[in-house]
Amino acid sequence: MSLKLHTIIASTRPGRVGPGVAHWFNDFAAEHGKFDPVLVDLADFDLPVFNEPEHPRLRNYRHAHTKAWSESVASADAFVFVTPEYNYGPPPSLLNALNYLAVEWAYTPAGFVSYGGVSGGLRAVQVTKQILTTFKMMPIPEGVPMPMVFPHLENGKLKPEEIYKTSATAMLDEMYKWAEALKGLRSQHKASLQTKAQAA
Ligand SMILES: Cc1cc2nc3c(=O)[nH]c(=O)nc-3n(C[C@H](O)[C@H](O)[C@H](O)COP(=O)(O)O)c2cc1C
Repeated sequence: MSLKLHTIIASTRPGRVGPGVAHWFNDFAAEHGKFDPVLVDLADFDLPVFNEPEHPRLRNYRHAHTKAWSESVASADAFVFVTPEYNYGPPPSLLNALNYLAVEWAYTPAGFVSYGGVSGGLRAVQVTKQILTTFKMMPIPEGVPMPMVFPHLENGKLKPEEIYKTSATAMLDEMYKWAEALKGLRSQHKASLQTKAQAA
């Protein structure tokens, strides 16, 4: 069975540029051919600021939005976050979405396509990587930073630089190795998530 790669659009801001970048990367991942790519838009889940009464690791979710988000994340084998940088950190929409869940993220590799001004979103990536380790995710060193992305967008569509493609290939190759290597841990873990869900 092919491994599912969720490319997550992290910005939910009206007028955001994230979808143009994410569509390009998702299509590129399809051409790359190792993963089964799925584009996931955080805006579709319409998550309010974290409002579950219990710690997410207990998975006693009260809200339909959390259950839908949990189901989406639990179905993936690997993640790429397409993220801007807000004040040298990740956008609140991404931090919020990460914090909504806990165990669903475990034993998956995570890569970043980041964009913004001169830093290409790299400061946001470094901050986020530290948080991902709490979830037992494996942040991949290879990434796709896009400094000064705005001139590369035409009517919301990304016109990629050659370096984006080279970097994306390197990141996907490495992610695939980790996704394969973590398969055993992930399948045991996902089976235990299903058993708990059935018992609830
Ligand atoms: C609240 C806020 C903070 C920002 N901080 C940064 C920053 O620290 N570094 C940067 O390169 N760009 C920063 N920007 C500019 C963003 O890179 C730019 O607005 C980009 O389009 C955001 O991505 P989005 O349109 O997908 O939300 C910031 C934008 C906002 C709205």
